[in-house]
Amino acid sequence: MAKVRAAITAVHGHLPEYVLTNQELEQMVDTSDEWISTRTGIKERRILKGEGLASSDMGAEAVKGLLEKRGIDPAEVDMVLCATATPDMKFPATANLISHKAGIKNAFSYDMNAACSGFLYALVTAAYHVESGRYKKVVLVGSDKMSSIVDYTDRQTCVLFGDAACAVLLEPTLEETGVMDHKFGAEGSGWVHLHMKAGGSLKPPSYETIDAGEHFIYQEGQQVFKFAVTKMAEMSLDVMSNNNLSADDVQWVVPHQANMRIIEATGRRMNISPEKVMVTIHKYGNTTNATIPLCLWDYEDKLNKGDNIILTAFGGGFTWGAIWLKWAY
Ligand code: UT7
Repeated sequence: MAKVRAAITAVHGHLPEYVLTNQELEQMVDTSDEWISTRTGIKERRILKGEGLASSDMGAEAVKGLLEKRGIDPAEVDMVLCATATPDMKFPATANLISHKAGIKNAFSYDMNAACSGFLYALVTAAYHVESGRYKKVVLVGSDKMSSIVDYTDRQTCVLFGDAACAVLLEPTLEETGVMDHKFGAEGSGWVHLHMKAGGSLKPPSYETIDAGEHFIYQEGQQVFKFAVTKMAEMSLDVMSNNNLSADDVQWVVPHQANMRIIEATGRRMNISPEKVMVTIHKYGNTTNATIPLCLWDYEDKLNKGDNIILTAFGGGFTWGAIWLKWAY
């Protein structure tokens, strides 16, 4: 009997309107368009402006567009998974709020957090639910309002991040498409290089933590850079060799968009030519859980059924991984 696989059958993103350019950042901190462009590849990023708007609002817009695009009634959705590092609140889960705002009434929903690898971890989790045969329509949304945890006086981090959401629909298929294989890893000792110091149970928020700026992203860029370059390529190559896929067999690589130099190095180490590596970092920056689906959305009209796609990410934790996906439409 053919195996039930989980296929991505639609993808849809939501980008906030406000465009924060490198030129505007030049007015805010001691930086330059030249430094940002050459060191990161980023030209602009989107910022969610407006009172009372959060990750769930972007996520709900992405999900509403996704269901409309696929012609599915919200009542048909079985499960909503949200990958986010910037939930609206510590609880309830942002996925619950997204379901509410998107009119999804018959689903269960929860969040997953694996920092920048969150979307990939959640994609495999969502796929298992579909492969079980029990759930037919699973929505996975990556949504992050990174501007809510970025210190706009810290030039090392404020140039990197942007806000966005992007959702995919997973449905069962008996064809040889969908989520085919993956390899993940994590190393908790890496937390020291990338984290938020306060706001959790370790250091609940106080006047002192706010004064010390401990509710912002803390990142030791060079340490993270070194690990990211090694791990994304290593995981991708492992997944390829475990499935007898050569570089020629792979139509697309979708790396997490954290830095253009990491993206290029990953492609080089995998022996994949640059035109097969998806890039959106110049226009959206690092949107954490939205980078990988946003790439799929951006390149959607270039994808063909049966394309072998390697998705790969590295993030806080440390967490990392790669997925072999066969495009289903
Ligand atoms: O998505 C989660 C995973 N995150 C990542 O993968 C991020 C990985 N890390 C990176 O992408 C890079 O390390 C950064 C983009 C964060 C930094 O780039 P870098 O090439 O590693 O720069 P650096 O930290 O070594 O800094 C080099 C210089 C320093 O000046 P000095 O000490 O040489 O005088 C920095 O102070 O660049 C300076 N610098 C800046 N200059 C202008 C740092 N940020 C800026 C800036 N504008 N925005």
